[in-house]
Amino acid sequence: MHILPLPLLSLISAVLASPTGNGDGSHYSPVQVRDILIGRAAPDNPSGSYAPAIVDCPRDRPTIRGAGTLSQSERDWLQNRRKKTIDPMLKFLKLANLTDFDAVNYVSSNSKNFSVVPNIGIAVSGGGYRALMNGAGFLAAADSRTPGSTDAGGIGGLLQSTTYLAGLSGGGWLVGSIFANNFSSVVQLRDGYEGSNLWQFSNNIFTGPKGKGISVFNTIGYWDDVKDQVDDKRDAGYDASITDYWGRALSYQLINAPDGGPAYTFSSIADAPNFSSADTPMPILVGDERRPDSKVISLNSTVIEFNPWEIGSHDPTIFGFAPTRYVGSNFSGGIVPNNGRCVRGFDAYSFIMGTSSSLFNGFLLNNITSSDVPSIITDALTAIATSIGDDNNDIAAWTPNPFYGYNNATNANADDEQLTLVDGGMDLQNIPLHPLIQPVRNVDVIFAVDSSADTETSFPNGTALRATYERSLTKIANGTVFPRVPDAETFINLGLNQKPTFFGCNTTEFAGADQIPPLIVYVPNAPYTAHSNVSTYDPEYSDEERNSIIKNGYNVATMGNGTLDSEWPACVACAVLRRSLERTHTEISATCQSCFSRYCWNGTTDSRPVPNYEPEPILALDQSNAAVSPKGLAATGLAYGVFGLMAVVLAL
Ligand SMILES: *[C@@H]1O[C@H](CO)[C@@H](O)[C@H](O)[C@H]1NC(C)=O
Ligand SMILES: *[C@@H]1O[C@H](CO)[C@@H](O)[C@H](O)[C@H]1NC(C)=O
Ligand SMILES: *[C@@H]1O[C@H](CO)[C@@H](O)[C@H](O)[C@H]1NC(C)=O
Ligand SMILES: *[C@@H]1O[C@H](CO)[C@@H](O)[C@H](O)[C@H]1NC(C)=O
Ligand SMILES: *[C@@H]1O[C@H](CO)[C@@H](O)[C@H](O)[C@H]1NC(C)=O
Ligand SMILES: *[C@@H]1O[C@H](CO)[C@@H](O)[C@H](O)[C@H]1NC(C)=O
Ligand SMILES: *[C@@H]1O[C@H](CO)[C@@H](O)[C@H](O)[C@H]1NC(C)=O
Ligand SMILES: *[C@@H]1O[C@H](CO)[C@@H](O)[C@H](O)[C@H]1NC(C)=O
Ligand SMILES: *[C@@H]1O[C@H](CO)[C@@H](O)[C@H](O)[C@H]1NC(C)=O
Ligand SMILES: *[C@@H]1O[C@H](CO)[C@@H](O)[C@H](O)[C@H]1NC(C)=O
Ligand SMILES: *[C@@H]1O[C@H](CO)[C@@H](O)[C@H](O)[C@H]1NC(C)=O
Ligand SMILES: *[C@@H]1O[C@H](CO)[C@@H](O)[C@H](O)[C@H]1NC(C)=O
Repeated sequence: MHILPLPLLSLISAVLASPTGNGDGSHYSPVQVRDILIGRAAPDNPSGSYAPAIVDCPRDRPTIRGAGTLSQSERDWLQNRRKKTIDPMLKFLKLANLTDFDAVNYVSSNSKNFSVVPNIGIAVSGGGYRALMNGAGFLAAADSRTPGSTDAGGIGGLLQSTTYLAGLSGGGWLVGSIFANNFSSVVQLRDGYEGSNLWQFSNNIFTGPKGKGISVFNTIGYWDDVKDQVDDKRDAGYDASITDYWGRALSYQLINAPDGGPAYTFSSIADAPNFSSADTPMPILVGDERRPDSKVISLNSTVIEFNPWEIGSHDPTIFGFAPTRYVGSNFSGGIVPNNGRCVRGFDAYSFIMGTSSSLFNGFLLNNITSSDVPSIITDALTAIATSIGDDNNDIAAWTPNPFYGYNNATNANADDEQLTLVDGGMDLQNIPLHPLIQPVRNVDVIFAVDSSADTETSFPNGTALRATYERSLTKIANGTVFPRVPDAETFINLGLNQKPTFFGCNTTEFAGADQIPPLIVYVPNAPYTAHSNVSTYDPEYSDEERNSIIKNGYNVATMGNGTLDSEWPACVACAVLRRSLERTHTEISATCQSCFSRYCWNGTTDSRPVPNYEPEPILALDQSNAAVSPKGLAATGLAYGVFGLMAVVLAL
């Protein structure tokens, strides 16, 4: 029983023509359907390749702006986006069936007052392909375009009601792939179309895709292409790091364009019609700053966000943002001096997805020699690895450093011509909450989808939330506040990692804080209908495995379409409304109160040691995908080895 066992074209036509889809209800021919899949962000690098290009500086020369406020672009966009979330939110609230509170009337009668209308964010964690697939399941459930998602028990429309969609590492591949492909739905990405390499995870990333348009492709040709693309950047005078190769290889699976779209830029999202018209949420990817030979820890490392307009940090270290489109320009002291060059195309889409997931640089290095990869490639990678040293393989080199000479007093990297960034999960904040808890964004609720491999069996135990909470108590928090969360043992002993759990329900815990942070709806990866705890380092999945892990994520998000709790959609609506109801001093209905008593963590702890965490499937296993055998053991051995290795690197 797949989410959608229909032939591709009729499926997409059905989606487009359905009343809840985004089509106008008319019939689409196959050719038009194909165009939709082909449409995406854009290959707008002026070089037409992966190489950054020197351009004439615009009349208003690019500058670094101080953080502390949102960019004018984001503020303008929000004016439209918040308005466009109203209709989907009304539909979603109707579906949620809050029988004792007229939520529809509450939102519609306040629809011009954006301090009343809930402001929703979704954050998708890292964890390699596991995180991509599990996160995809959540997004499929939340997307009104997914057939069945708006039936009773569903939460379809939540995605359409959302303002921000953040991703990190493997979650960044998901968010990146959606926006690289014209805000395609998960169902479209999953099923792709004939001849496309999109989401074909059965083609091991080391071996490469089978086809290249109409011609057959082999491993040597694939890596030769990747090498040529990175050489284009190097030949243009830029440093290349292992991240460049990793990002390019990833893109063959994530960007539906010839050769994985080397010229696609992240800033082109800002011009994509469906984003600029605010018909989609705003994508944000996350990375961390790490100086060579230093460690990344959540309590003092700078978190970097990548959005379509800007790259930079809210932290009191860099505390500034560079324009994404011109990020490769020769900035110094926050400006491009008269003798400096303006550069475009440095913000390659693949380089940003690669930077956010640079943990996998080591994975690439360690596995590439065992595949049929030409020595010219392995030699190039080994040469880079040797020159920077094993301990620094995970660094994505951003040269020139846009924050050179900027905020010298607090910016540790201000005198370095290279900005060194790593995987956004390296600071253990493996859920991209940081951009969404910034007070300037005024988010009311964050759906935090966690596919971290914390336990030895590759399930989450709340580590990511704890890292963000603990950071919020330090100086680098700079005004961000985060709900209290318990220890890992409590997560496991109380089952807080087996079903969605709300944190920060009772705002008395924030008395004395500058602001009330968003409510966190924690959505952990748990085995509902599949053994979804596959290893972070498993590079290959059959279509059946992929689909069943996506469906597992869907079932976690909907609690099995309400089979575990028929009021779950109502409880999601209560979580969405919670902060708003408090601001307007509206009485909480009995249904919502009952939801909060079931889903809010109430402060109870149970810190007894947990010998090992081997959860049983929560619903009947999905038999149509019997191919997914228990992954526990094999996965554990592999992940354990890697985490042993990482523990050395991260040891405090
Ligand atoms: C929930 O609904 C989806 C979409 O219709 C379906 O794919 C999935 O199998 C259902 N889950 C359960 C547990 O029945
Ligand atoms: C994309 O834009 C088109 C035309 O503006 C609109 O009809 C459609 O609903 C949008 N799609 C999404 C997913 O927002
Ligand atoms: C993107 O998708 C929308 C429908 O969701 C469609 O209206 C639009 O034409 C597509 N854009 C491109 C460039 O394919
Ligand atoms: C809405 O909830 C009521 C009361 O719980 C229930 O009787 C009714 O069947 C639900 N309606 C839908 C469409 O789920
Ligand atoms: C963070 O703290 C650790 C340990 O005290 C230290 O080694 C590291 O240099 C610090 N990092 C930054 C960016 O200050
Ligand atoms: C955040 O950091 C900046 C730069 O150090 C500072 O100017 C600002 O006041 C800080 N904001 C808060 C709320 O602490
Ligand atoms: C692949 O890389 C991972 C992570 O670096 C490593 O643990 C594993 O042993 C490698 N596998 C092979 C076959 O080299
Ligand atoms: C900041 O540091 C840069 C690089 O070291 C230096 O050139 C510049 O003069 C410094 N700026 C200020 C205001 O101190
Ligand atoms: C929780 O996860 C962390 C890694 O994120 C791990 O070190 C710790 O042992 C785990 N604890 C439990 C009880 O699972
Ligand atoms: C919130 O917590 C405070 C202090 O622990 C308690 O007095 C109050 O009853 C709680 N409120 C709710 C709505 O649970
Ligand atoms: C918007 O709602 C808030 C909270 O109820 C209220 O304080 C404010 O006056 C409202 N603003 C307008 C313009 O109605
Ligand atoms: C808090 O939650 C625990 C279980 O998670 C439950 O046993 C306990 O009764 C709850 N306490 C209150 C005051 O609701």
